[in-house]
Amino acid sequence: VPRPDSPQFGKPAPPLAPSLDAPSATVSSGGASVASEETHARAVAGLSCGPRTPEQVRDSALPISLRWDAGPISLHIRPLEESDVRALEWHGGPDLRSFYEWQWERHCEGEREVLVVVFNGFPIGQVALHWDGKPAHPGVPDIQSLRVMDLFRGLGIGSKLIEACELEASRRTCGKIGLAVALDNAPARRLYERLGYRAHEPSYFDHWDYINARGETVHVEEHVIDLIKDLSQR
Ligand SMILES: CC(C)(COP(=O)(O)OP(=O)(O)OC[C@H]1O[C@@H](n2cnc3c(N)ncnc32)[C@H](O)[C@@H]1OP(=O)(O)O)[C@@H](O)C(=O)NCCC(=O)NCCS
Repeated sequence: VPRPDSPQFGKPAPPLAPSLDAPSATVSSGGASVASEETHARAVAGLSCGPRTPEQVRDSALPISLRWDAGPISLHIRPLEESDVRALEWHGGPDLRSFYEWQWERHCEGEREVLVVVFNGFPIGQVALHWDGKPAHPGVPDIQSLRVMDLFRGLGIGSKLIEACELEASRRTCGKIGLAVALDNAPARRLYERLGYRAHEPSYFDHWDYINARGETVHVEEHVIDLIKDLSQR
């Protein structure tokens, strides 16, 4: 469940990308072959805060090629667009509509960077990079609301979304990046630890509210632990 919280503005991006480790040409993930295009670093470096022109959105698209049993498929990662807002209701339905609208506003303001992975023009996954981070880890951008549509899981897409966040954080000279995982979400925690994220005790109860389709406030509480990655080790 996504975690709406108070709007704050993010740091402006520096005008030039600092040294980015361009990802290797081919990454293997869960049996799927993920071919990163040579435009990877350039494309991610093109992401910036604030409302985007159609040209900026097009120029910052990050192509991914995946191969699975049914053959190759083409996807790309790009910043959230307004037309994605309703499409993302494949998770949560109209109950999360107000959240997705809120997320779009925060994205336009630059408080968070929302990236979607697109297949045939449809957003099949998303991640939100919250620039201000958490009170316990100020200045450490926080990865939130990561999810991939069921049918497309296990192909390396979630890993690529995380990698795109890390590149964007590196571009803004952030030394660390973090996320929280529920204690009962062992598969996701295993994935993050494999990608270099390390647990920071203590665990705690995170809680947030959202307004559902009937206008009711829904309170959610989750027992989570923060995981942090040192980006200087990338
Ligand atoms: C977590 C998630 C984004 C990973 O996306 P993905 O595209 O499947 O990720 P990748 O293909 O790069 O990596 C696959 C790994 O994710 C793990 N994983 C984590 N949560 C999973 C889930 N709910 N279903 C399937 N696989 C999951 C797989 O177990 C696999 O790791 P393994 O090889 O050790 O088994 C995706 O599974 C998802 O949307 N899960 C539901 C929402 C969620 O739990 N989000 C994380 C909140 S912290």
